[in-house]
Amino acid sequence: MKNSPIGVFDSGVGGLTVLKALMAQLPRERFVYLGDTARLPYGTKSPQTVVRYALQAVRKLTEYRVKCLVLACNTASAVGLPAVSDEVRDVPVIGVIEPGAEAAALASRSGHIAVIATEGTVRGGAYQDAIVRRRSDARVSAVPAPLFVALAEEGLCGGPIAQSVARHYLEPLFDAGAGASSPDTLVLGCTHFPMLADTIRLAAGPDVGIVDSAETTALYVRRTLERENLAARSGEGGLRLLATDAVERFARIGGRFLERPIRPDEVELIDL
Ligand code: DGL
Repeated sequence: MKNSPIGVFDSGVGGLTVLKALMAQLPRERFVYLGDTARLPYGTKSPQTVVRYALQAVRKLTEYRVKCLVLACNTASAVGLPAVSDEVRDVPVIGVIEPGAEAAALASRSGHIAVIATEGTVRGGAYQDAIVRRRSDARVSAVPAPLFVALAEEGLCGGPIAQSVARHYLEPLFDAGAGASSPDTLVLGCTHFPMLADTIRLAAGPDVGIVDSAETTALYVRRTLERENLAARSGEGGLRLLATDAVERFARIGGRFLERPIRPDEVELIDL
């Protein structure tokens, strides 16, 4: 089991930010990454549809005999984690919401925490619940920021367009006039948002702590593997990339998210 791969699932290329953090934390592990590019975005879909898609995707990943499943997609984690955990009982199933919420609850001094995410993640309330469960004094301001998804995929992570969108979403949250009532911590609750971290930091202001749920999830996965005695002891790692559509686009855009070039022939086209 220790030498089995870790399955990572996302609606598309965004989860490659989580994969990148996982590969940095766990260089000996082998990974199978599945991006459901045929059906993205998940962030605008109903919970029922996201749950159905997520179940199909994780069933596919279990065919690769994975020793742990990571739901890298915030939207799928927010609405689909209970259903997926019910379905896959023999290996740990880890979503990105709980680790992000944990880090935010620990980092915030004031207890006022902002979350930016997709529409579906905000509507589902999973971050809000997970933070308040850990810190009953917390106040959570959650705001959808869907344009960041398109900007990250277009490679527009800095510059005037991204800055103006960031101000549009973040200025009302971090209003300078709000003083002490303004959040002191901001959770990047979507796979794509770490790509815009510098621009987001600039708009939120220098005093706001940023929680990147990709980083916190990678750390959580490492601890889980160690605790369950599932961590690979040797090996050079490895990666298998699966996509349900548009492998050329997956490779082109995904390379930026993973911060290493991906050749189209590295991506296997699969059906769910
Ligand atoms: N992966 C999604 C998330 O983290 C963003 C893209 C989508 O909407 O599918 O919520």
